[in-house]
Amino acid sequence: MTDNRIPLAGVIGHPVAHSRSPKLHGYWLKTLELPGFYVPMDVTPADFKTVVRALPKAGFVGANVTVPHKETAMHLADHVSDRASVIGAANTLVFRDDGSIHADNTDGYGFIENLRSGAPDWNPQDGPAVVFGAGGAARAVLSALSDAGVPEIILTNRTRSRADHLKEEFGQRIRVVDWVQAGNVIESAELVVNTTSLGMQGQPELRVPLDGLQPGAVVTDLVYAPLKTRLLRQAEDAGCTTVDGLGMLLHQAVPGFERWFGIRPVVDAATRAAALA
Ligand code: ATR
Repeated sequence: MTDNRIPLAGVIGHPVAHSRSPKLHGYWLKTLELPGFYVPMDVTPADFKTVVRALPKAGFVGANVTVPHKETAMHLADHVSDRASVIGAANTLVFRDDGSIHADNTDGYGFIENLRSGAPDWNPQDGPAVVFGAGGAARAVLSALSDAGVPEIILTNRTRSRADHLKEEFGQRIRVVDWVQAGNVIESAELVVNTTSLGMQGQPELRVPLDGLQPGAVVTDLVYAPLKTRLLRQAEDAGCTTVDGLGMLLHQAVPGFERWFGIRPVVDAATRAAALA
């Protein structure tokens, strides 16, 4: 900012009341003793562009963007990072001093950082990953796994055409299998990722048969409410390393916070507790 106003940031969604981001960023601002505020903003799709364009004038240095605005946010920006454009959606906006808007997507980064810290022995090159789901969250995961060098990604989704479409976009390393076959490919997996909403509070359970899970595999769920999903419980029982989805939320927030407020925050046990409070 060119003036000395207190920097503001926030998360824009519709709805947004469930978001953990205000607690998380508020915790970092407080513990790092930085001036600034981070607020939830419930904005309808009809108002989104108008609101975003006005925010810098009110002292906002940037914003996170969540459902249903992530695609619009990318299209509205003046500059789009490569990773946001590959994913086709943005979750982090930076309002620059010259009035332009920069869009980034840190979901894939958050996903990989969470895996690296929760399963430090996982080596992407070691073998196939099985990914459940082909929605927006899957796009970030596929792009991150490809970049990390996973040799084969076995993708399965209830609606097969969506998975086929992602294969066309994200390349040859993806093999699509039918949803009813999901249980049969688990055996070969070094990594299993749930990107669907199944298992989330208020949603049906993920019913893929998991008998084939190998004890050495790493299993992670993007669902973080509940923290320990049925998938993670079953994986634990099978002797797998499990990584819950809250860490992805925490890690994806790091680059935005650093850009807006000038200090790179750390993700540790206290950060987790603050986001859950
Ligand atoms: P997000 O952006 O969070 O990924 P999304 O684009 O709505 O959200 O995708 C939700 C994912 O959960 C999809 O893979 C969806 O499968 P479909 O593509 O077949 O819709 C999956 N999903 C949601 N409810 C499901 C259910 N009852 N059974 C199987 N898959 C389900």
